[in-house]
Amino acid sequence: MNDIGNIEIQQLSLGFKSGFDTKIIINDLSLNLKAGSFTSLIGPSGCGKSTLLNAIGGHYKPIYGSIIIDGHEVKSPSADLGIVFQQHTLFPWKTVKENVRFGPMRRGLGRVEADRLADEYIQLVGLSGFKNYYPKMLSGGMQHRVEIARALANKPAVLLMDEPFGALDAQMRASLQDSLLSIWKNTQVTIVFVTHDVNEAIHISEHIVILSRKSKSISEIIDINAIEDSSTESFMRSKKADDLRLHCIEMLSD
Ligand SMILES: Nc1ncnc2c1ncn2[C@@H]1O[C@H](COP(=O)(O)OP(=O)(O)OP(=O)(O)O)[C@@H](O)[C@H]1O
Ligand SMILES: [Mg+2]
Repeated sequence: MNDIGNIEIQQLSLGFKSGFDTKIIINDLSLNLKAGSFTSLIGPSGCGKSTLLNAIGGHYKPIYGSIIIDGHEVKSPSADLGIVFQQHTLFPWKTVKENVRFGPMRRGLGRVEADRLADEYIQLVGLSGFKNYYPKMLSGGMQHRVEIARALANKPAVLLMDEPFGALDAQMRASLQDSLLSIWKNTQVTIVFVTHDVNEAIHISEHIVILSRKSKSISEIIDINAIEDSSTESFMRSKKADDLRLHCIEMLSD
């Protein structure tokens, strides 16, 4: 049983200063995400998905309330919180392996141990044959896999992903969704995944949290794994999946 990566969000309010005022983006949101769970955040554009994800990652300070991971309040970014963004953030002048071992070496690990970790995670994302390639020699999907390997090499308790596959074509997206599912099953890391794509959310996550722009909080939580294993092709083609899609789309229209 995995017991690290438990996220408790309590009465959280987030916002940004605008002149003398503060514009509230998230208001009084409470949510508990169990260690090892896989949750997607969906909601209309501008409802605060990225703001919430970045706050979990320690990049924004709450106006009120708190975010507690494994009993410790999140106050700043840390290696325990891996973040993968939509845009590429790899170092273009470093090879795949150098990119992945960068985090472990910065944390003070010796070269041999950092190399071992890098090899392990590069293999996990299926890129063992590309260790010495530079990012520009890889496709967009392969670069995303390197980003995921780089985040995982820090052994984070929580992996935060903000529309990581948003810019990819449908086939690449499907293949990365499957890679991510198997990585999640192998590492048991807690994943919080922001997406615009209802289908993607249904396919890969156990729970879907729908945010509302109107209430600035959660409008619904759907426990998909209580319905069936949604990672299978047969479920995705079923009537239940269709109903779920329609329901989510209705909820998104606020
Ligand atoms: N750094 C910032 N400073 C001021 N306002 C911000 C900042 N970041 C986001 N906002 C505002 O907060 C609101 C929510 O933005 P956020 O990026 O969290 O939305 P989102 O749900 O991720 O949208 P999208 O689906 O388009 O990515 C928007 O009104 C945005 O303008
Ligand atoms: Mg966003």
